[in-house]
Amino acid sequence: MLAGPQVTINRPAWISSTGGGHRSSAAAARSPHLQRRVTVPSAIAAPPKHSMPPAKAEIFRSLEGWAADNLLPLLKPVEKCWQPQDFLPDPTLPAAEFAEEVRLLRERTAELPDEYFVVLVGDMITEDALPTYETMLNRTDGIRDETGSSPSPWAVWNRAWTAEENRHGDLLRTFLYLSGRVDMVMVERTVQYLIGAGMDPGTENDPYLGSVYTSFQERATFVSHANTARLAKEGGDPVLARICGVIAADEKRHELAYTRIVEKLLELDPNGAVLAVAEMMRKRITMPAHLMYDGRDPKLFKHFTAVAQRLGVYTAEDYADILEFLVGRWGLDKLEDGLDGEGRKAQEFVCGLAQRIRRLQERADEKAKKTEAEAVKFSWIFDREMVL
Ligand SMILES: [Fe+2]
Ligand SMILES: [Fe+2]
Repeated sequence: MLAGPQVTINRPAWISSTGGGHRSSAAAARSPHLQRRVTVPSAIAAPPKHSMPPAKAEIFRSLEGWAADNLLPLLKPVEKCWQPQDFLPDPTLPAAEFAEEVRLLRERTAELPDEYFVVLVGDMITEDALPTYETMLNRTDGIRDETGSSPSPWAVWNRAWTAEENRHGDLLRTFLYLSGRVDMVMVERTVQYLIGAGMDPGTENDPYLGSVYTSFQERATFVSHANTARLAKEGGDPVLARICGVIAADEKRHELAYTRIVEKLLELDPNGAVLAVAEMMRKRITMPAHLMYDGRDPKLFKHFTAVAQRLGVYTAEDYADILEFLVGRWGLDKLEDGLDGEGRKAQEFVCGLAQRIRRLQERADEKAKKTEAEAVKFSWIFDREMVL
């Protein structure tokens, strides 16, 4: 649900309104989910990119003990984890009392505006595309789960991380359902489209790139959920504020894990690590839900991020702040040893980037002031219009 600066995404790449994809129309006719013409992107046929030299996979294998000592303790035992039910009306109550809890939940959301719900839905949809993110982790060389229940600490982390994250979408989804404020069918369709579309964050199968990307993402989701918590509190819904707050706290813990991995890589292979940070920042951090689509609005992601920007839930400023935070967290500006010429160039690029992004954003904001506002309908809120 998060936008990098000046992200422009149109309809999901796998959907072509003009058709002409690789699949025959006969195949489309046989398959009900292909009733819209679907183009299978050529990337599917291309061999996977393994840009990390096999020798470097050895670094990850040699770090299994380190991962057990430094990552696994960041997981919370299941028995100590909050569960969605802790924050939701209790369905075991007698019907009238349950209905009263639902009524109170709805009363608390009454003052929150539609645009808040657009952002909350986008956040929830992003969380619900979790199968895509677990797939990404398991595509990554050196840390993938080789059996499906491998005892490797990397694989244990991947599965437990997924299990913790799984509560986020569940809780937000049930809350939204009970609130009665959103069109659940359209929300659910968007989730189905998004999981079907996947994502390509440009991390290839490289754990260097993947760890940089995920560090950024975990921090971005922390920022975003913390802001929806703040707005819920200001809007008179302390329970929703707690819901977004506990999710934000999980994201923070997960951020710590991924930033630790990059920190360790900087220690063992500073040049490789700084090049990976620069590569991800050059590609620009694409957001996990960048292919979101509801079957209606081909610019849904762009519109959603515009609302998030306007509400101050996740902004271009946040993107630059996160980058600056990571540069400081990893001490990239102070890194001296172990860099070759390329590494130094990468370091210089990364350390000056936040400032450049801010300057570019100022110019983009000036330009945006001159463009006409656009009325956009969001299917998630029953096609009500919003001027963006
Ligand atoms: Fe999450
Ligand atoms: Fe997360």
